[in-house]
Amino acid sequence: MAATGAKSLGQLWCMGPRRLLQLQQCRMNASIRKQLGLSTLSNGFRLQSHRSYRAALCIELTKPLVIRNMLSSPLLPHEVRVGVHCCGVNFADILACQGLYQEKHSLPFTPGMEFSGIVLETGDNVSSVQEGNRVIGVTNSKALAEEYVSHHKMLWRIPEGVSYEEAAALPVSYGTAILALQQRARTQPGETVLVTAAAGATGLAAVDVAANVLQAKVIAAAGSDRKCNLALQKGATQSVNYSWTILKEEVKKLTVNRGVNVVIETIGGDIFKEALHSLTWEGRIVVVGFAGGTIPLIPANLLLLKNVSAMGVYWGRYWEQDFPIFAATISSALQYCQEGWIQPHVGELFKLEEVNEAFSYVTQRKSTGKVIITIQ
Ligand SMILES: NC(=O)c1ccc[n+]([C@@H]2O[C@H](COP(=O)([O-])OP(=O)(O)OC[C@H]3O[C@@H](n4cnc5c(N)ncnc54)[C@H](OP(=O)(O)O)[C@@H]3O)[C@@H](O)[C@H]2O)c1
Repeated sequence: MAATGAKSLGQLWCMGPRRLLQLQQCRMNASIRKQLGLSTLSNGFRLQSHRSYRAALCIELTKPLVIRNMLSSPLLPHEVRVGVHCCGVNFADILACQGLYQEKHSLPFTPGMEFSGIVLETGDNVSSVQEGNRVIGVTNSKALAEEYVSHHKMLWRIPEGVSYEEAAALPVSYGTAILALQQRARTQPGETVLVTAAAGATGLAAVDVAANVLQAKVIAAAGSDRKCNLALQKGATQSVNYSWTILKEEVKKLTVNRGVNVVIETIGGDIFKEALHSLTWEGRIVVVGFAGGTIPLIPANLLLLKNVSAMGVYWGRYWEQDFPIFAATISSALQYCQEGWIQPHVGELFKLEEVNEAFSYVTQRKSTGKVIITIQ
């Protein structure tokens, strides 16, 4: 199957059934015309013929990804072709390639949910970006490739002074952190925020935003002293290494029995339970993920006793449910980065051919901050 055969959620956004049929017809026309050696289409769609690009493909779940040449797709009027420079590795990409993510892709598929790159070509109706602009974008798949075709509304300009690597590290992790801390937990200046897996991509972003944007006091909890130190450098004022201490007891000591106002929790299992116990009166715990693999149950009496709230955050879902909020998290992240309030930490760079090594590096808990695949 060509990578161009199925559109991503972002690209399908706003498209009615008639438009989708047109698109399918266009793809078929393109393939027929390519075989005939023709390069133009009569129905208004632009065709970039004989062009190919490399992409990482998941052909079989749980098996290593392979790098394949794919044919470029023609652009629809609202679409933008981006030459991808960097693609962020997300836990969700790895889960998707194992068939364990909540959103399932039909095989074969190219993972990759966030990218930075340069605009190569724009559709006829696009005015928000132009050839040569540096952009970041978000999708639910397909960004782990040299080229990505995006709906123009899913692209944001990279400000001056922000590198491709930094920019690619922003959307998912900082978007989620901003949403969790601001929109969901309503974190106030001076409140105490406990962040678990505090040196992970989401965790370190949460430390950065809570400490440096929201002026909260951050307790970073992580699985090694090296990771704790990184979170302290990022702005946390205290840390707990939960690989050899009991998180609940340590937080109790650090807060002199008071507890924390907000928890940003990405691990699940027993760490979630200890973090829930660490909340103070009217505290809020935000369920972000289950990196440890165990989805915890919440005893309702714990919520009642201290008037605490447990809430979820699913950043990607805002894209469909409330696009202005979704878009605002990305714009804010770019703005905070340009103004120097936050600084994404790129822990490691891998090449496209090293994508399987990059995935292992993350699952083996070796990574800190964002792991980036550099493509050009
Ligand atoms: N809800 C949302 O919208 C949203 C958005 C982004 C991410 N997420 C989720 O948040 C979680 C973290 O994502 P991320 O991108 O920040 O991942 P990451 O950078 O890989 O960080 C995950 C961290 O979790 C800790 N961890 C504990 N047990 C683990 C285990 N068994 N395997 C792997 N890691 C383990 C590790 O830190 P220590 O070694 O310090 O324990 C690891 O560094 C994932 O579940 C992801 O799906 C959710």
